[in-house]
This record gives sequence, C-alpha cells and structure tokens, in this order.
Amino acid sequence: MKKILYLTDLYYQAKGRNYYEEDIYITGKLKDYFDVVLCNPKNSESFERDVDLIVFRNTGGVRGFKDIYNSFVDRVKTNNLKTFNEFTGKADMEGKQYLLDLTLEKYPVIPTIDTIKDIDLLPNVDKYVIKPKDGADSIGLEFLTRNELIERNLTDGTTLIQPAIDFKYEVSFYFINDKLEYALYAPNKEQRWKLEKYNYTDEDIEFAQKFIKWNGIKNGIQRVDACRTQDGKLLLVELEDLNPYLSVLELDEETRKVFMADLINAFNNMI
Ligand SMILES: Nc1ncnc2c1ncn2[C@@H]1O[C@H](COP(=O)(O)OP(=O)(O)O)[C@@H](O)[C@H]1O
Ligand SMILES: [Mg+2]
Repeated sequence: MKKILYLTDLYYQAKGRNYYEEDIYITGKLKDYFDVVLCNPKNSESFERDVDLIVFRNTGGVRGFKDIYNSFVDRVKTNNLKTFNEFTGKADMEGKQYLLDLTLEKYPVIPTIDTIKDIDLLPNVDKYVIKPKDGADSIGLEFLTRNELIERNLTDGTTLIQPAIDFKYEVSFYFINDKLEYALYAPNKEQRWKLEKYNYTDEDIEFAQKFIKWNGIKNGIQRVDACRTQDGKLLLVELEDLNPYLSVLELDEETRKVFMADLINAFNNMI
C-alpha cells in the first residue's frame, strides 16, 4: 500500500471541540486503503521522504509553532514533497492578508483594512472588530467602539480592522478540491460550535465557489466560512485553506461516507 504521513496535534486544545476525535475517525478509515502513520509536525522531518503523501490536518493555529511550520513548508518546496493540502494557497496559509486583497478586489468579504488611516474605506458603524493578521482560533480578537478603535491608533499593519457584523448566523462550506461536500451552520449565535446541516441554495454555492476558484488549490480541503447579514447577503469571514477542522463526526452517515470516499479518491489521484 502507498504510505501516508498524517500530520496533526492530538493534544491541541480547541474551544468546544476535540480535534483529535476527528483525526482518529479519518485515519481509522484511511488505514484500509493506505499505510498511515500519525505524527506531530514537530517530529515529521525524518519521515517526510519515506512516504508517498503528507497530509496536513488538525495541528491548530500554526502561529503557535511558526518556525517549525515555516521550515516544513520550505522543505515541501525544496524537496518537492507531495502534500495535501498543497502549499499553493493564497488564503489562511499565508495569514489573513487575503482579506485585504479581496476587499480591494470587491469580493463579498467583510470589509477589511490594516491601518486606521484607511478607516474611511469601512462603513461608519458603532462597533468594530480587530484581530491579528496572523491569528487563528479567535486569539486576539476584540470588539471595540469607534472611539476605542481610534484610540488604539493601529498603523503598523499587523492588525486587521473590520466593522462588527450583526449577522443572523455563520455558515461554513466544505470542499474537497473543487467539489462542495457539505455545509454546516450555527443557528445559535452563542454556541458557535453547535453545528447543523445547512441546506444551501444555488446562490450559496456560487458564493462559496467564487473563493475556491480565486484560490486555485488543486489538491486540498478548504472551508469557506461566511456570515449571513441581516439583509440576507453572505459575506466571507475566513477562507481556511491550510487545516480546516471539518466537524466530520457531526455529519450524517451518508454525507460522511461520500466525504471519506472523495477524500480517498483525492489521495489516490495524487500518488
Ligand atoms: N467582523 C466581524 N464581525 C462580527 N463577528 C466577527 C467578525 N470577525 C470575526 N467575528 C467572529 O469571530 C469568529 C472568529 O473570527 P475569524 O475571523 O474566523 O478568526 P479565526 O481565525 O480566529 O477563526 C468568527 O467566526 C465570528 O463569530
Ligand atoms: Mg474562524
């Protein structure tokens, strides 16, 4: 059988979810099709050249192990290692800069700036959100009034500034390569991790695919996180193209089966 090095952090503590349960489920299925070995990204170097494919999964925010992550990506490039996701994405794997780019390119994203000098590019609202450009898992995310925001005088480009969106709900679209597998939403705003199946419309698919197309990743799992505004529009919150948590255990059996079959297929097509 072909060999897969499956990178994850089984000990990562995420709010409201146990990432490792999903990894145990996925690798439990993969083992019937591939020789699979699990490994923390910290320990992967000496194994990387012995495998046919490296799968990068629930490692948590890479900000917590920046140097290790950067040298891993360097090795992927210099040693031509096959990875899933491939490291060609322009979204989360590069930080949150893409939100600024997409704002300027007029994509349907939460309008985003990275210096208070550009405040006029945002709508004039009561509340704003700031978050670190290289953040994840809500670390460093704050809600501020306009006055508080102005007092911070953020000008060094390391913090993103957005209007706080009073959304109806958040919804995520999960893709393997360019195929939409399923969508989940959080009907209760207070319980962001209590997800339910979301029945998307053609318009919703079109919205999500716009970002998948823009990013151009051929081999990988991506999650398009969006919010539904009070006037019914979808706006992009985040495009997770590095290691999106998949909520695989919350899916119905049929959706999960199709997802796993497509994932196995995607791996087989690469090796
Ligand atoms: N501009 C915003 N307005 C309202 N809520 C926001 C905004 N930005 C983020 N949030 C809330 O914070 C959560 C985490 O933000 P996100 O941008 O996805 O960062 P992270 O990388 O930490 O996941 C979102 O899912 C949403 O609930
Ligand atoms: Mg997020």
